[in-house]
Amino acid sequence: MPSVYIKTFGCQMNDYDSGKMRAQLAADGFIAADEPGDADLVIVNTCSIRDKPEQKLHSFLGTVLPQKKVRPVTVAIAGCVAQMAGKELYKKYPSVDMVFGPDAVHRIREMVEESKVRRVLDVDFFGEDTYPFPTDVDPGDGGGSVAGFVTIQKGCDNKCTFCVVPSTRGVEVSRPAVEIVDEVQRLCDRGVTEITLIGQNVNSYGLKLGAPGLVGERATQPQPAFAELLRRVHEVEGLELLRYTTSHPRDMGDDVIACYRDLPKLADHLHLPVQSGADRVLRRMKRFYTREVYLDVVARLRAARPSLVLTTDVIVGFPGESDADFEETVTLLEAVRFQGSFSFIFSPRPGTSALRLMDDAIPAGVASARLTRFQAVQRTIQLEEHRGMVGRTVPVLVDGPSAHDEGVACGRTSSFKTVNFPASDDVIRGSWVNVVIGVAYANTLRGTVI
Ligand code: SAM
Ligand code: SF4
Ligand code: F3S
Repeated sequence: MPSVYIKTFGCQMNDYDSGKMRAQLAADGFIAADEPGDADLVIVNTCSIRDKPEQKLHSFLGTVLPQKKVRPVTVAIAGCVAQMAGKELYKKYPSVDMVFGPDAVHRIREMVEESKVRRVLDVDFFGEDTYPFPTDVDPGDGGGSVAGFVTIQKGCDNKCTFCVVPSTRGVEVSRPAVEIVDEVQRLCDRGVTEITLIGQNVNSYGLKLGAPGLVGERATQPQPAFAELLRRVHEVEGLELLRYTTSHPRDMGDDVIACYRDLPKLADHLHLPVQSGADRVLRRMKRFYTREVYLDVVARLRAARPSLVLTTDVIVGFPGESDADFEETVTLLEAVRFQGSFSFIFSPRPGTSALRLMDDAIPAGVASARLTRFQAVQRTIQLEEHRGMVGRTVPVLVDGPSAHDEGVACGRTSSFKTVNFPASDDVIRGSWVNVVIGVAYANTLRGTVI
């Protein structure tokens, strides 16, 4: 049997695409290899969001391409770097057999066949009305995991000045709701109990349909709005917990907020990237909200669901960010009391409009000192919030045995906290247990099942 190894960098969209490739290749008999050295086909699914993930492609190829000299192996570069720099990569690495972007994922089987006779390059985008969402479910999904991911849209129509995603993933397209509900149902039938709906701007789902210029089937069959989609998915039999990521603060309408009041299976956690706490910086990032608007969204969410835990993304050292601007990001962190964040130093990316602001670039030392300070404040808040949970009993959705500790199982709360607890073999994966929290760490909690 042929085997495939897929190395995935980047976000959940890439993880999901890798799953779809595995699913489609399984139809041709491909099994998953544990190591690139054992595989007949090696695919590296790349990310170009910052410079660092992009560099990982080159080091990975440095370990894989020499194998071509000693054994037959097909090597493919997929994903966002391939989309951005496909032609250059195709020239730079003549021994790479396939280079293709995210829109070609559904053609993987054809491309593997084609690569047997010629090198393949496919970085074309589909139009809004023709984009085919692959429907095969990854054979790995549900194979013991309680969590499943389902894409609800592709691309992004925003133009945040720092971000490459609109160039790598193309225009925003909402996947038909019937397909989404069907995929959620198929995963739940396999024992998945926690579903995360994914996309780059999920809460604008459905809004782009019927937009001027849209032709074909999707123009005549507008999809429901995101809030309605949440309500439909919430009804799927077997579903215990519903999450989504990533949403944009400016599209957080009252209808979505009302779901936090009405839908008990909607998680007690929301990842709502803010990027900066300073209006000046938000304007230059073209985020289309102010600090005040963001705080108002948070207040309305908490009115609908007082227990809601928020996490966020932050960029420090954006061109022109003053000390005072950065302090506003820290005070926003303190005001909202985010219980987790991904924080990054601004990385200038090809083709983005922030490159025009580079005259105001922030020195590397200043940016990294800001990152350290932000992360220290974040850690203190997390620890304080976690210590406040000690002695409380919380429902935990069991994920399985801990990877590090024998006799210990781990799971997640609805608020996305990882909880470890001693467990016997009869703890059922995918079921809820009540755990009394005994010890708090910055990133995890430990407790005892009652
Ligand atoms: N669509 C989401 C949003 O609007 O927040 C997430 C986009 S991106 C995949 C994930 C995060 O990477 C962003 O929220 C941002 O904080 C960070 N990011 C994107 N471009 C960046 C850049 N050029 N430099 C540093 N961080 C960046
Ligand atoms: Fe990038 Fe902005 Fe789109 Fe998020 S909303 S993917 S940050 S352009
Ligand atoms: Fe990276 Fe592409 Fe995701 S650039 S973050 S893999 S959409």
